[in-house]
Amino acid sequence: MADNNVTISKGLEGIYIANTTLCQIDGAHGKLWYRGYPIETLADKSNYEEVAYLLLYGNLPKKKDLETFRKKLISEREVPESIADIIRTFTGRMHPNDVLRTCVSALPAFDVDMNDKSVEANLERAIKLTAKLPTIVAMIGRYKRGKPFLAPSSTLSHAANFLYMLNGVEPDSESAKLMDLMFMLHAEHGSNASTFSTLVTGSTLADVYASVVAGISTLRGPLHGGADEAALNMMRAIGNPENTETYIEDALAGKQRIMGFGHRVYKAYDPRAKIVYNYLKTFMTKTTDPTIERLLEIALRSEKLMEEKLSKTKGIWPNIDFFSGPLYTAVNIPSDLFTPVFAAARVVGWTAHLFEYWQNNRLFRPLDNYTGKLDIEYVPIDKR
Ligand code: ACO
Repeated sequence: MADNNVTISKGLEGIYIANTTLCQIDGAHGKLWYRGYPIETLADKSNYEEVAYLLLYGNLPKKKDLETFRKKLISEREVPESIADIIRTFTGRMHPNDVLRTCVSALPAFDVDMNDKSVEANLERAIKLTAKLPTIVAMIGRYKRGKPFLAPSSTLSHAANFLYMLNGVEPDSESAKLMDLMFMLHAEHGSNASTFSTLVTGSTLADVYASVVAGISTLRGPLHGGADEAALNMMRAIGNPENTETYIEDALAGKQRIMGFGHRVYKAYDPRAKIVYNYLKTFMTKTTDPTIERLLEIALRSEKLMEEKLSKTKGIWPNIDFFSGPLYTAVNIPSDLFTPVFAAARVVGWTAHLFEYWQNNRLFRPLDNYTGKLDIEYVPIDKR
């Protein structure tokens, strides 16, 4: 019998699942810290490699440590030929995020000792995944464009190498900086849906790869990491900036959600979106590409209208995913790679949470409140 006294927390809203020193989000005031450092400071002064180190090791690296970490990431950029085969077999037949997930599923086959569950071995796996995911995403993008795969650079930064492997030319410093910023802003974000599913899988003591596959799968949906692709698709459907207001008003009147707006935790402006928004406004004064100009204008007009309509009344502000589209388009990333790019950046956040959770592991096993009948008579199939 259903227990009417049970309180159900839909979507686990308001439930704490663990203590953490990785990330703090102040949703009411739109603030975010990685390991105590404000996101604005990191975005301004740091870089993805340093942020990845901070998340995985718990402190900012000294010069020598960062150099060693960078070298390690560079040395792990290549992927086995079987991963290239998976990319050739499945790209074009399923979404790039699904191809990425399939590639990560195959990586344990190349792990020298899957029985080694030591902290060091798991950290090594996290670093390998952080290095290889951008390579896999770039290879998927290359294959889709009918271009040959490129060997990773042994000198370029994490972000610049990704753009090089995808586009076939070394990015200018502005594009490399933009990509680095987006990687940093996507690296970590507390107990969001994909991190939570990474932890749920990890809590069974499944391995790092299986846990990350769960994270990649969960990221895919449009209510989570898939929102960036959906937001750009909306901007493309709007087409002409003049149509922005009518399109959004009609969508809201039809009770549609505007992708890239709203957040379970932020009831103020997502600080990551604010950083990207400011970047985008400066970027707009520099770009001369009419397609990018149009997308940027649609993004800014949408933001203004949503602010009037929903932000102040319902607390629905832009999230990180809203402004990604025009910026990624400017550095030649196709929209179906947005979510895999997000995964490639977030893998450090997923694995850092997993290692923290394993220090005090407890199997996730929530309850559900049964509302059906019990002891129903079984009727043989020919009598039903
Ligand atoms: N557009 C229009 N209305 C919205 C939006 C939106 N994007 N988001 C929420 N609302 C409205 C809901 O319709 C609801 O209205 P009601 O009270 O009149 O019924 C109210 O705001 C509350 O919505 P909930 O779904 O209860 O809020 P929740 O905390 O569950 O939603 C979510 C968070 C799923 C992110 C939601 O805002 C959404 O669907 N946004 C669009 C998808 C998106 O951008 N996802 C990316 C999030 S960031 C990330 O994952 C990286």
